[in-house]
Amino acid sequence: MTALLFAMPGNEAMAAGLCSAGGWTLGDWEIRRFPDGESHVRFLTPIAGRAVVLVCSLDDPDRKALALYLAASVARELGARQVGLVLPYLAYMRQDCRFHDGEGVTARHFARLLSGMCDWLVTVDPHLHRIGHLDDIYAVPARVVAAAPGIAAWIAAHVALPLLVGPDEESEQWVAGVAATLGSPYIVLQKTRQGDRDVTLRVPDLAAWRDRTPVLVDDIASTARTMIAASAHLRAAGLTAPWCLAVHPLFAGDAYADLLGAGVAGVVTSNTVAHASNRIDMAGPIAAALGALLAGSDLASATGG
Ligand code: R5P
Repeated sequence: MTALLFAMPGNEAMAAGLCSAGGWTLGDWEIRRFPDGESHVRFLTPIAGRAVVLVCSLDDPDRKALALYLAASVARELGARQVGLVLPYLAYMRQDCRFHDGEGVTARHFARLLSGMCDWLVTVDPHLHRIGHLDDIYAVPARVVAAAPGIAAWIAAHVALPLLVGPDEESEQWVAGVAATLGSPYIVLQKTRQGDRDVTLRVPDLAAWRDRTPVLVDDIASTARTMIAASAHLRAAGLTAPWCLAVHPLFAGDAYADLLGAGVAGVVTSNTVAHASNRIDMAGPIAAALGALLAGSDLASATGG
């Protein structure tokens, strides 16, 4: 029997896209909050003996993680043969270091929580920086899907003579891969973060690139201060307005409006988090990885890389 996919609230479009791409069935359930804020989960499609896949992007993770935990736990209680998670955006990966005394590496604690509730997971471009591989912190097989091919395809179709720009060293893994696919040059800026909304960038000499259109590529846009600061430097150096591409559009508060108002050519993101800027559909690539996991063909090699 085919796997049953269940969409956590806000993930209906991605779950439908996965079912369409992979030929799976969308399960019927009730998932809502009681008036007191507790979660209510009721599977309406029978799941005993079935492979159950919960689709849940983990932006706003503190609000979503407990409902996800309860949904996975109820699926197991009702006899699901396996419970897998599709997490297009995987939260807490930036907290990969004890930056100040008294803090913890919360990426590890969150990984322990998720590992305990599922048999495997699939995600898109987790923020792997000081933690090199998901299997360093996840105790279950974790398959990583890359957004770089979709980003490269969008740039190839929309931007002539691009200059790929990584706003900080952590973005080099994405920007280098996209640049290699396109055969385009790339540069990487140096970022120092003083606070949540306070970043300083150092920029190399850009005089040689004035005939190119800059395309900023980063994994996450949260406050958008990184992209806003990078855009200002590029404009000050005499380049045209940059395109801003991000894999995961978190856009806290007014961040999206602030970025659009910062003189950029446009903002383009993947649909790992549903947002007005989504132009790059990750359902197909995620479905390919999910299909391999469900077939059991690559559980042994699903190391998360
Ligand atoms: C951090 O290293 C990430 O790669 C992004 O650059 C960062 O999360 C962007 O954050 P913000 O949009 O708040 O500047």
